[in-house]
Amino acid sequence: MINLYEKKTYAVFGNPISHSKSPEIHNFFYKLYNLNQKYIKIYLSKKNFLRNISFFFKKGGKGANITLPFKEKVFPLCNKITNRAKIAGSINTLKLLKNGTILGDNTDGIGFLSDLLLKKIVKKNFNILIIGAGGASRGIIYPLLKFGCNIFITNRTFHKAKILSKEFKKFGNIESITFKNLNKKKFHIIVNATSAEISNKIPLIPENIIRKETICYDMYYKERNTNFMNFCINFGSNNVFNGIGMLVNQAAHSFFLWNNIFPDVKKTIKFLTKKKKKKK
Ligand code: ATR
Repeated sequence: MINLYEKKTYAVFGNPISHSKSPEIHNFFYKLYNLNQKYIKIYLSKKNFLRNISFFFKKGGKGANITLPFKEKVFPLCNKITNRAKIAGSINTLKLLKNGTILGDNTDGIGFLSDLLLKKIVKKNFNILIIGAGGASRGIIYPLLKFGCNIFITNRTFHKAKILSKEFKKFGNIESITFKNLNKKKFHIIVNATSAEISNKIPLIPENIIRKETICYDMYYKERNTNFMNFCINFGSNNVFNGIGMLVNQAAHSFFLWNNIFPDVKKTIKFLTKKKKKKK
């Protein structure tokens, strides 16, 4: 077999892909640990995407991250799938195994929980409100339930929240709650897992559920504050975070799967945020 790559090569596949920070993150990990590897981004057309990912592995690729809109669609490529990927219903990491077969995994959920733990902002029995009932929410529910948190899930289209809570009930305390009833509960953490930011909007939750001590976390990451973050700051939260920590932590878990080394996440976040400041 021809090897296209002179170094051990990894890639992130998506459509669009130009915005992806994964190459910066993984190439920084390689520098930290002096590894002769490279990580590239590959735009994938929506036609023949399975064949194109297979081609990457056939030509010497060792592992890949998969991002939108393919995460739910790469199951047919995998000979083995981890439990957490099966439960999330999506795959963000592929690994070429020694016998030439492919393992599918999902590090989004564990990356999110790792970030909360690293920031020391989560405890067992915390009430966590997740806003949104799409792929992003689905990815984080299982690790949070396993950790021992109580999940409340709300969504603009309420029946989707109901379906998700029913599906995950067997793993822990989870219930669906309407926007209207949100002010009847107290939440330690509020997570925005909607895609509202893409259309420059915020989910219309009542502002009085946000207190000074409420931890508000937007899974969405962009260099400036998101609309949701500004909303939470305006209504008094002192603990507002964007998704950079989750992004680096999910990358760290993928890197661990590929290299058996857990990288220094704090250093990597520092590197990324410093770069951002320099650009300004
Ligand atoms: P993803 O895979 O990124 O989670 P998705 O599956 O399209 O994307 O889900 C997007 C989520 O964001 C949904 O929960 C959606 O709510 P609906 O189910 O009602 O569509 C939510 N969402 C998107 N725009 C929103 C907005 N402006 N306000 C509130 N929720 C929004």
